[in-house]
Amino acid sequence: MKVLIAGGAGYIGSHCVKIMSEKGYDVVVLDNLSTGHRAAVKEKLYVGDIRDRAFLDDLFAREKVDAVIHFCAKSLVGFSMKEPLDYFHNNVYGTLVLLQAMEKAGVKKIVFSSSAAVYGDHEKMPITEDYPTNPTSTYGETKLMMEKMMKWAEIAHGFKYASLRYFNVAGADPDGTIGEDHRPETHLIPIVLQAALGKREFVEVYGNDYPTPDGTCIRDYIHVVDLIDAHIRALEYLMEGGESEIFNLGSQDGYSVLEIIEAAREVTGIDIKQRIAPRRPGDPAKLVASSEKIERVLGWKPLFGIKEIIRDAWRFHKTHPNGFDS
Ligand code: UFG
Repeated sequence: MKVLIAGGAGYIGSHCVKIMSEKGYDVVVLDNLSTGHRAAVKEKLYVGDIRDRAFLDDLFAREKVDAVIHFCAKSLVGFSMKEPLDYFHNNVYGTLVLLQAMEKAGVKKIVFSSSAAVYGDHEKMPITEDYPTNPTSTYGETKLMMEKMMKWAEIAHGFKYASLRYFNVAGADPDGTIGEDHRPETHLIPIVLQAALGKREFVEVYGNDYPTPDGTCIRDYIHVVDLIDAHIRALEYLMEGGESEIFNLGSQDGYSVLEIIEAAREVTGIDIKQRIAPRRPGDPAKLVASSEKIERVLGWKPLFGIKEIIRDAWRFHKTHPNGFDS
């Protein structure tokens, strides 16, 4: 099976490329390298943008792909509030052009990254897929619009899609060759590990007055290797004739910011310093996924817990203190 991995030079996409090629899939990669890293990809890479229809038509003419896994997106909640139109142009318009090119090329199967950000704020945890979607950020709105485009493309053109709503993805491939390298970095686990490396003096804890047991925000962390396993299962499910579905992708376990810092102290053996800072606007107090549906339909279960997530991320950070420039 030949699979186009769009956004395959980014953090999650590059793990997908590596793991799928190790499993024997024929993969072709597309990335505009706006946030991705050329060094993260060993396989055939087409450098271009999904908003460029001519580029996509040419790629689909050259490579007879059976399906697409779509990771291309701007994904920072805070920036999406400052540059909303940029996010719509990149994420929504980009997906629109990709779907048009797929339709023309007769490629009708797509697995794509959605986000827990489509849900907005909810009191009751864990979140199941039938919770109302009320995004509180432009980023979440773009992901919801992408899902809706898929729905109508299915009705009109026979697309089949699997939309995976990620919770907090972290960790790295256990061999330590690829990992998370965002610039700027805003995610908690890499920031904590940068503090362990001495690249930051301390970790700022954004708020300790949330209605949670220790006052800090609770998130559901999932190892990137488990996440890719879910993509492969979703792809195989569609190729076997499965119906379009939306799945949450989380572990059903929640950890607070302070618990993550403490776990990182244990894994690294370093006394990572922390400071309480003001809340970060837009952060919900608690986000935990129900993973009952994906377990029932795809037989997926996470294999890695929080210590393994931090251990594997730490291996990459230690060997790549300057990310892919190391
Ligand atoms: N945090 C800190 N200090 C930091 C960085 C983060 O205290 O320096 C806290 C945040 O306030 C939050 C938690 O750590 O409570 C996790 O923050 P991240 O930035 O790592 O992740 P988010 O939960 O904000 O965002 C993630 C994905 C988004 C996605 C969102 C879904 O990165 O793409 O989940 O809600 F949209």
